[in-house]
Amino acid sequence: MIVDGVPPGMKITKEIIQAELDKRKPGVGKLNSPRKETDQCEVFAGLGQDGVTTGAPLGIMIYNVDTQKVHIDQYRDYKDLFRPGHATYPFFLKYGDSQDWCGAGRSSGRESVTRVAAGAVAKHILAREGIDVIAYTVQCMDIKAKEVSYDEAKRNYRKNEINCPDLEAAQKMEERVMEIKKEGDTAGGIIELRIHNIPGGLGEPVFDKLSATLSHAIMGIGAVKGVEFGVGFKCGNMKGSEFNDQPYLTDKGKIRFKTNNCGGTLGGLSIGEDIVMRIAVKPTPTVSVKQKTVNMKTMKEEKLDPVTRRDPTLLARIYVVAEAMAACAVLDALYLAKAYDGLAKLDEKWMKLKEND
Ligand SMILES: Cc1cc2nc3c(=O)[nH]c(=O)nc-3n(C[C@H](O)[C@H](O)[C@H](O)COP(=O)(O)O)c2cc1C
Repeated sequence: MIVDGVPPGMKITKEIIQAELDKRKPGVGKLNSPRKETDQCEVFAGLGQDGVTTGAPLGIMIYNVDTQKVHIDQYRDYKDLFRPGHATYPFFLKYGDSQDWCGAGRSSGRESVTRVAAGAVAKHILAREGIDVIAYTVQCMDIKAKEVSYDEAKRNYRKNEINCPDLEAAQKMEERVMEIKKEGDTAGGIIELRIHNIPGGLGEPVFDKLSATLSHAIMGIGAVKGVEFGVGFKCGNMKGSEFNDQPYLTDKGKIRFKTNNCGGTLGGLSIGEDIVMRIAVKPTPTVSVKQKTVNMKTMKEEKLDPVTRRDPTLLARIYVVAEAMAACAVLDALYLAKAYDGLAKLDEKWMKLKEND
C-alpha cells in the first residue's frame, strides 16, 4: 500500500507498523482463523537512510505466504456456488466468471491488513498530538459488557482474546464463541470505538461532517453492518431535554459537557469530548452448517457446508482495523483543520478553547 500525507522528519520504524499488524494477524489464538500468515511488512519507499520519513509517500509491502494448494482447491470446489453471506452473488453480477474466487478475492478480510498498516502510521502521527483511538468489544451474541471509562477500557481491553475490557464478560463471551464454533457456526457482536483527547472544531459543517467521514471509513470495512454515535438509536425514545448535553466551565476556563449523548460531535464538528461510536459486526459468513444456495453456472439449487478456514467471530481481529480506519479519517480532519486555522486566523480566545488539555 501507499500511504501519502506523512509529515517529514518522523521516525517511523518497521517495528511500529509490525506491532499493529501483529494484533490483526490470523493463526494465533482460539478465536482466530487457523490461516498462518506471518504478516511481515517491508517499507520499500518514503524513508531516508536513518529510518526517518522524507515527506514522500510510504510504500509498504506485505506478502501472502499461506497459499497452499489444499486451500486453493477447497475454494475451487465452491467457485460456481453463491456462498451465503459472501460477496459471490453481486460479484458474479459485476465481474461474471472473471471474479477472483480464490479466498474471496477483494472481498476477503485479508485486504484489511493494508488498512492496519496505514492506520499504524496515522496512529503514530495522532499520538504526537495526544490523540488516541481504541476499539473494544462491548457485546458478543447475548452477552453484554458493563460500561467502562476510557481509562479502564485502555487498561483492560487487550487482556483477553476477544478484546473486551469487562474481564468477567470477556470470559463468558469467549466460552460462548467456543460453543458456537463447535457447532460449526460463527458469532456476531458489537465493538465500541473511542477517539480520546480529540480537539474541538474538527470536521466540516455539511457534506463531510466528522460523523459522516468516520462512518464512511468504518462502513467500508467488511462485515460491518451498522454504526451509531453516542446514545445512537436510543435517541428515538428520548426527550430533547434528556438528550441535550449540557456544557459547563472547568477551573481552567474550558468548556466541557456533563454527558456525551451526542457521541462527541455537533453539527458535524468535534466538541472536544471523546468521539464514541458503536459498530455492529456480523457473524463470519463461512459456516459449516448446510445452507441452501444456487449454482451460478448450472442455475440449479444446491446445498453448501464449506470446509474453508474462517474466524469463529470477527471480534478478535476487527477492532484494530476499525482503529486504523478511524485514525486515518481523524487525521484527514486534523490536516484540514490545521490548514483552515492557519488561514482563518481567528481571535486567540477561540483558538484556546479548541486545544485539548
Ligand atoms: C478482519 C476480517 C476478517 C475476516 N475473516 C473472514 C473469514 O475468515 N471468513 C469469512 O467468511 N469472512 C471473513 N470476513 C468477512 C468477509 O470479508 C465479509 O463478510 C464478506 O466479504 C461480505 O461482505 P460484507 O459482510 O461487508 O457484506 C472477515 C472480515 C474482516 C474485516
